[in-house]
Amino acid sequence: MQADFKRATEFIQQYYQENKLANVDDRLSEIQNEIELSGTYTLRNEELNYGCKLAWRNSNRCIGRLFWNSLKIKDKRELTSELQIFEALKSHIKYAFNKGKIRSVVSVFNPQNIKVYNQQLIRYAGYRLKDGSVKGDPEMVEFTSYCIKLGWKANFGEFDVLPIVIQLHDYKPVLFDLPKDIIPEVKLEHPRYSWFKDLKLKWYAVPIISNMVLEIGGIQYHTAPFSGWYMSTEIASRNLADSFRYNKLPLIAENLDLDISKNKILWKDHALLVLNEAVLYSFEKAGVQIVDHHSASEQFMKFVKLEQKNDREVTADWSWIVPPMASASLEVFHKEWNNQVKSPNFYYRSPFWQSGEEKQSQHSKCPFHIDSMH
Ligand code: ARG
Repeated sequence: MQADFKRATEFIQQYYQENKLANVDDRLSEIQNEIELSGTYTLRNEELNYGCKLAWRNSNRCIGRLFWNSLKIKDKRELTSELQIFEALKSHIKYAFNKGKIRSVVSVFNPQNIKVYNQQLIRYAGYRLKDGSVKGDPEMVEFTSYCIKLGWKANFGEFDVLPIVIQLHDYKPVLFDLPKDIIPEVKLEHPRYSWFKDLKLKWYAVPIISNMVLEIGGIQYHTAPFSGWYMSTEIASRNLADSFRYNKLPLIAENLDLDISKNKILWKDHALLVLNEAVLYSFEKAGVQIVDHHSASEQFMKFVKLEQKNDREVTADWSWIVPPMASASLEVFHKEWNNQVKSPNFYYRSPFWQSGEEKQSQHSKCPFHIDSMH
């Protein structure tokens, strides 16, 4: 990979300027020499740290950015074997979960020749059944069958945690099962409806995105899993509710004795509220950090004000920032933002198991997509 000195310069200058550091030119000529000699350059540990924080601060779709400066960075660039990488991913889960007091963290691996195939480190399998229906998470059907092809022993349950798939160079990808005791999960119950726990719903505690490319100063880190804590609507209004995901609203509405043939009785809205209450109540009861959408909206507005104070414009994607619940009662609903993509950032990339043609057709027009970055 040939590093681009122009992009390196932009990032290093920003790093020196925001941290009020002197002698940026010395560092820039050092980087220039390194690129001339080797074709690329290595960020110093403190540059990498700040670059990761900026990548979060620049993430237009994230409502949780008030906390960008508290991100912890695990520099794992020296690791070279599948097993070492798997151990580091397990440590990431433990460090992030922190017995429920979740810490935002990113683990950065060598930018070359390491691939983690998973979309998130913890994710539930989805199985297409003979009658065409799906058991588990429909979003994971394709990846699940890929894992089975690689030799994974499926359980065919509704909430089976998928294995980690790691590939070095173009060797055969290697599967690792995460030990059950390091996967924190929260069983869902409702503060008033005792039938709710009989639905046997649950969700994992920490979302750890592992399919995005971290770009800092022109260098792309294809393996840089990052995590924060959940906002309740992500689980309750989307993962468990979307008709193309776990699709649990009809089941909950039935238990509430609502007639699901009548739009006008707002059965989906009732069911959504009950599911959101259950997620917040159960996470709180289990001592696992989670934020509701009202607090998240307030925190985001605080972030916007702090950025303005520092003479920086917040870029944001309105359709992602506004939570999928009680939208107009939140301050973020009534604002507008510029959705320009700044560097450093996290970008989407196509799943590693897809062919070139599939990649092209799906993402060629998306500004966040790394295949169209250069
Ligand atoms: N929406 C994704 C999910 O439900 C997680 C995205 C990251 N979310 C976060 N709170 N850091 O799994």
